[in-house]
Amino acid sequence: MPGYLYILHFDEPLHHAKHYSGSTKNLRQRLVAHASGAGSKLTKWLADHGLNWRLGAVATAPGNKLRAIERELKARKNACDFCAICRNTPFKVPGTLPIDLDLCQFATDSQSLRGERPEFTIQVSTKGDRECLERIRWLMQDEREALGFIPIGDASGALTAIDRGRFLIVRQKHTVVGYLMWTKDDSTSQVNIHQLTIDDPYRLYGLGKQTVATLEALLPHYTLHARVRSELPANEFWEAIGFTRGVERENEGSLSKCNNWYKAPMKGYTP
Ligand SMILES: CC(C)(COP(=O)(O)OP(=O)(O)OC[C@H]1O[C@@H](n2cnc3c(N)ncnc32)[C@H](O)[C@@H]1OP(=O)(O)O)[C@@H](O)C(=O)NCCC(=O)NCCS
Ligand SMILES: [Zn+2]
Repeated sequence: MPGYLYILHFDEPLHHAKHYSGSTKNLRQRLVAHASGAGSKLTKWLADHGLNWRLGAVATAPGNKLRAIERELKARKNACDFCAICRNTPFKVPGTLPIDLDLCQFATDSQSLRGERPEFTIQVSTKGDRECLERIRWLMQDEREALGFIPIGDASGALTAIDRGRFLIVRQKHTVVGYLMWTKDDSTSQVNIHQLTIDDPYRLYGLGKQTVATLEALLPHYTLHARVRSELPANEFWEAIGFTRGVERENEGSLSKCNNWYKAPMKGYTP
């Protein structure tokens, strides 16, 4: 699936920064997220302080190259050269196909996009959610690098988990945009979060945090536990939402290490 590289041009410079560059598979959703104070820490800061931006450049690239091109673009620190607001004839971002900003079908400035934050629901799965399996598998596949070390098993295993309410399903209207899959161990009063994923364009809206909070409210007497490969950015997520880091361990059957993250029960905790 192709994606987009984009550069936001700030109306007023922030210290020395005048641009933010990012990548996404869903440009409009991501711009709405940035404008409404989500999508990245920097654009959240801009939104909180009432600072505005305009889309300065957008280009398409193959989905599997996006992150690498984005990293390269960020490292260059010359976003100005690619920005159509800064330059009459901007450079082309290597490895991408530029899109003419005049052809964008929607507003591309933060003021117009602000306030369009969509509504989300988070629900415990029931048998009626079996039809979500394909979409869940697709989300899983998209994040296989982050989630891959804990296989979901065959479809029947996943269906049983859905039937038994071992999934929290996050939706925007009728679209599944994320899920959390868990199991619990009554002998240790521990809930294991096996997989949590929020689809890329919906990240940094606070959905991951709300989904974990929903699980916590559902099982207030249990310790929550998540295991994450040490090199993944998700470690910062668990820390940000108040989990405590346990001992780093070798990941069985692989060279990578894993962090174990814990959160004590809300009430009645006996370690
Ligand atoms: C990890 C993931 C679930 C986070 O979901 P999300 O909805 O974007 O997270 P939230 O918006 O609720 O973020 C909550 C906090 O974590 C921080 N955070 C989230 N992702 C982060 C990241 N990649 N790097 C640094 N901080 C991050 C947010 O800034 C926010 O902090 P704040 O409350 O101080 O503002 C999502 O990025 C994802 O699906 N990643 C791929 C799959 C994966 O790695 N899953 C976890 C493996 S178990
Ligand atoms: Zn610019």
